[in-house]
Amino acid sequence: MADEGRTGDESDRPPRCPGPGYQDILDGDAHPAPPILREEADTPNETREWPTDVYTSREYAEREVDLLWRRVWQIAGRVEEVENPGDSFVYDLADDSLIVLRTKSGELRAYANSCLHRGTRLRDAPACLEHLRCPFHGFTWSLEGELKDVPSRWDFPQIEDDTWRLPQAQVDTWGGFVFVNFDPDAAPLADYLEDLPRDFERWPLEDRFVAARVERRVDCNWKVAVEAFIETFHIIGVHPSNLPFFGDANSQYDVWPERRHSDRMLNPSGVPSPHVGDDLSPQRIIDIAARFGMVEPGTQVPEGSSTRAVMIEASRKRLEQDLGIDTAPFSDAEVQDVIQYSLFPNIVLFGGLGSPLFYRARPDGQDPGSCFFEVLLLLPVPEGAEKPPPAKRRFLEGHEAWSDVPELSYFGPVLDEDQAIMPRVQRGLRASRKSTVSLGVYQESRLRHFRRTLDEYVPPKADGHQP
Ligand code: FES
Ligand SMILES: [Fe+2]
Repeated sequence: MADEGRTGDESDRPPRCPGPGYQDILDGDAHPAPPILREEADTPNETREWPTDVYTSREYAEREVDLLWRRVWQIAGRVEEVENPGDSFVYDLADDSLIVLRTKSGELRAYANSCLHRGTRLRDAPACLEHLRCPFHGFTWSLEGELKDVPSRWDFPQIEDDTWRLPQAQVDTWGGFVFVNFDPDAAPLADYLEDLPRDFERWPLEDRFVAARVERRVDCNWKVAVEAFIETFHIIGVHPSNLPFFGDANSQYDVWPERRHSDRMLNPSGVPSPHVGDDLSPQRIIDIAARFGMVEPGTQVPEGSSTRAVMIEASRKRLEQDLGIDTAPFSDAEVQDVIQYSLFPNIVLFGGLGSPLFYRARPDGQDPGSCFFEVLLLLPVPEGAEKPPPAKRRFLEGHEAWSDVPELSYFGPVLDEDQAIMPRVQRGLRASRKSTVSLGVYQESRLRHFRRTLDEYVPPKADGHQP
């Protein structure tokens, strides 16, 4: 099945949009892009169809919990949330739940969030704890996971303190994120991350602070949410107002054949989309960008300059004036463009400064048609300042919009446009009589990579269809 539908040998280059590619655009920049942005993967070239039932089937969602979620390394939260001894938060994933905390001696731990007595959920909310005490009958464990107190101890001759330690998941950190893995036998996080830490050397996310943290329920499968963000092919349908200054179809998509858990795209900003490029003069593009607050009103394109150069200058000024960030060490591409990586299964990470976001999608219980979608704004700490405390998590109710969150600035309205399409995809998938999705060879290559890795964790049933 893996080799069905290939258009040729794996080294064949996939089709590309006519006109300049991302690397050609970088060639024109005044402050040259670093080597990491000059790399280009040998993205595979194939046209295989992918079944839709992975998004809609309840049975598949159950298999997914067993075979995927209980085996992969996943981001539970930020290290800042468990900075001090006793700090804790709860990480829920489908019906599984962990209490992530820092022990008195400074270690990170993740305990199953279920009392060993009669199963009660031990913790619901973040807090700085002295110990873990069950709210039902008061069984108590130390932060090290040792049984400390059993009310009416005389009534439980069967309990041995040694065997009544709280069960643990694995914990590790990278990039300022706390990762957990439910599988005690899983390979280390460093193996799971493959080359991602190398790629992010210039953009240490552990040095950033959480400037906004917003989550909401979305009526779609968690994979529909992830896939809605890892291509820019949808700009023409969902965000057409961005076309004058966003090179959607000029983007570079990197799927490294040897990497299972990460891939990336590089989207040029400050250049018109090939869909509209010939229709707009440079000055007209800048006038439109001014309406979006991306350049000052009245900005002119000087003789011999370009829309990209003008927009990069405006971005540097905005980052320096509004956020106190010294942009001098950053190339033009890092200031302006979208440098986006995915981390399998459910994380979208951004390098550079052009789009300092983070996305996470998690299943909502066992319901294949609902997920929690979370957005973080991860900003560099202003020059000479202390790292600010992380923003409190805000949960948006059904009637609230991403654009109701002022901290998300111009990303809010864009997220509202994405928000509108995701439940529509889910409803359409349920109504599908074709039963497959057909992916673009290049622009949707990351979706294909995602589905390939997903199939490795949750193998298709023998007839090729899920579940
Ligand atoms: S269920 Fe936790 S103490 Fe009884
Ligand atoms: Fe989008």
